[in-house]
Amino acid sequence: MKVLVIGAGNMGLTYAEGMSKSSLLNRHNLMIFDKSPELLVSLNKLDHFDVYDDIEACLPKADVVFLAVKPYHCEELFKEIKHLVHSDQIVVSIMAGVTLKTIQDGLGLEKVVRAMPNLPAQVGKGVTSYTAAKKVSRIELLMVRNLLDTTGESIHVGTENFIDASTGISGSGPAYVFYFMQSMLEAALKMGFSKNDSKVLVSQTFEGAVELFNKSDLSPNTWMERVASKGGTTRAALDSMEDNNVKELIKDAAYAAFDRAVELGKE
Ligand SMILES: NC(=O)c1ccc[n+]([C@@H]2O[C@H](COP(=O)([O-])OP(=O)(O)OC[C@H]3O[C@@H](n4cnc5c(N)ncnc54)[C@H](OP(=O)(O)O)[C@@H]3O)[C@@H](O)[C@H]2O)c1
Repeated sequence: MKVLVIGAGNMGLTYAEGMSKSSLLNRHNLMIFDKSPELLVSLNKLDHFDVYDDIEACLPKADVVFLAVKPYHCEELFKEIKHLVHSDQIVVSIMAGVTLKTIQDGLGLEKVVRAMPNLPAQVGKGVTSYTAAKKVSRIELLMVRNLLDTTGESIHVGTENFIDASTGISGSGPAYVFYFMQSMLEAALKMGFSKNDSKVLVSQTFEGAVELFNKSDLSPNTWMERVASKGGTTRAALDSMEDNNVKELIKDAAYAAFDRAVELGKE
């Protein structure tokens, strides 16, 4: 199997690096193409995959093609590559909001998988939701899943609506976590901790809480009750959040991202 990644930005490079470290592909079965000459020079130095500056030299050889350009570049990309793709190729798009139909129509092929990754893919801790057009067989989908899993975990969803929904949870989600971290960092600094100590206090707290959660079957609610005792400090903080409706505001934020993903798909 030969894989081509088009677009060597944040996400394209993350997938290429993930796949290059896995045992699924050897070095010469992984190709990467980008338009930026400076980027290509640095990619060649990495020596992790075959780097191309000519789409005609790489695209026809690929069995699986990852599209990792920005959504607003997709029309231009389709025009550039439509005459080079063939119906046996599987196209995996990670472009937010670009529908299966838009890609099928834009490229004139049927076998398309749409995936929504997230930023922790950069450290092998990503989560990708994906769905496929009908023409993609079960074996082909398994092959794609194995490729996606090189950056973390993946979940198959039945419809594109769930791709947009997962944008609101996991795609944009790391930013919600950073928002919470930033708030706690600012509180720690205000209390007089040094920058470094604030960072340790906040990052260890997040890491420890997530590890506790992952190692048990307990819900976050149960863990909250375990930390909080009546009349204690944690109860005071949780009551303050409840009084300020923080939980509902976070849910609203996730829905705002979901709605925006749907809107982007229509633009
Ligand atoms: N970043 C995330 O956390 C995240 C999460 C989920 C989904 N995504 C999706 O992932 C996709 C890529 O995002 P990104 O953040 O990795 O973008 P990025 O860093 O801008 O990378 C895209 C790369 O593709 C290049 N490019 C543009 N048009 C091209 C073409 N026609 N042929 C070849 N290369 C081309 C760009 O070059 P120029 O810079 O010269 O234009 C750039 O190097 C987006 O569609 C986004 O919706 C990203």
